[in-house]
Amino acid sequence: MKVLVTGGLGFIGSHTVVELLEKDYDVIVIDNLYNSELAVKDKIKQITGKEVKVYTDDLLDKQAVDKIFVENDIDEVIHFAGYKAVGESVRKPLMYYHNNLMSTINLLEVMKEHNVKKFVFSSSATIYGDPGNPKYVETMGRGKTTSPYGTTKCMIEQILEDLYVSDNEWSISLLRYFNPIGAHESGLIGEKPNGIPNNLMPYILKVASGELEILNIFGNDYNTPDGTCIRDYIHVVDLAKGHVCALDKLENSASGVYVYNLGSGKGYSVLEIVNTFERVNGVKVNHQIAPRRAGDLAEFFADPTKALNELKWKTEKTLEDMCRDSWNFMKKEIE
Ligand code: WQD
Repeated sequence: MKVLVTGGLGFIGSHTVVELLEKDYDVIVIDNLYNSELAVKDKIKQITGKEVKVYTDDLLDKQAVDKIFVENDIDEVIHFAGYKAVGESVRKPLMYYHNNLMSTINLLEVMKEHNVKKFVFSSSATIYGDPGNPKYVETMGRGKTTSPYGTTKCMIEQILEDLYVSDNEWSISLLRYFNPIGAHESGLIGEKPNGIPNNLMPYILKVASGELEILNIFGNDYNTPDGTCIRDYIHVVDLAKGHVCALDKLENSASGVYVYNLGSGKGYSVLEIVNTFERVNGVKVNHQIAPRRAGDLAEFFADPTKALNELKWKTEKTLEDMCRDSWNFMKKEIE
């Protein structure tokens, strides 16, 4: 099967391309390199021994997207490409709505024109809003999101549900990620955020490597065992494997819209992450308690039952693996 992966040189995209190639999929990538680099294509070849065809076009350029479908006999699409910085989306909502929505609509219109109707979408646990119960299950439905980034994910889920209602030939999988961290065991691919990271693990990595001075822990007065926020961290390789399972499910099921949480089902606090990272890697992470960050919830984690039952998928890697693999990647990057 030939699969187009949008954002396929990015953090989660590149790890998913590796897993697809290892399952003998024929992979085409479109990536505008906004938050990735072309060198990742070579890293993927080093890991898998396989070439992947890369188009560095932008999904906002509908003619370029159409050309990819004319030149390649694509069967299905996994869609990662999109802006994803929560704080930036609050400062620049129009940039987020225009990019994330129009790129997705362009892609879906071209797919429809070429009768390609198998689609896996990179959604996020953020679409649940604040449901009042920390254990998120797919039947909870979408809540009130706290950022334009999260709202674009909700809107795209809605667009996809409406698309299926209009044309029952579509097979769509909405994958709601929790907190992806870690890196491929080779250390060749991983997360390389531009500038000052928003997310916890990339920030820890820059403090451990000396690039940043100190980690601010946003609040230790939450109603949790150690007072710091709890999240469901998932190894990016486990997450990538979940996408292959979701594609397999679409290939072997009736058309429809399928929704899955991709999380471990276990929550860890910020301090547990910091302490585990220090212990596993034998490095110090300077940190201090700082005021809460607006919009943070005290705790949430996945109910992963549905993905286990329907995708035969569950996380296999441990928090130690996530911390070790993240640091292994960072060390290679700064060598
Ligand atoms: C985790 C915990 C922070 C940084 C976000 C998006 C979500 C998804 C994953 C894209 C929180 C604390 C963090 C720091 C800290 N992104 N923290 N100091 O907020 O759970 O989820 O990223 O899909 O959509 O909402 O992840 O890594 O930003 O924060 O104390 O410098 O670490 O307060 O409790 P979050 P995060």
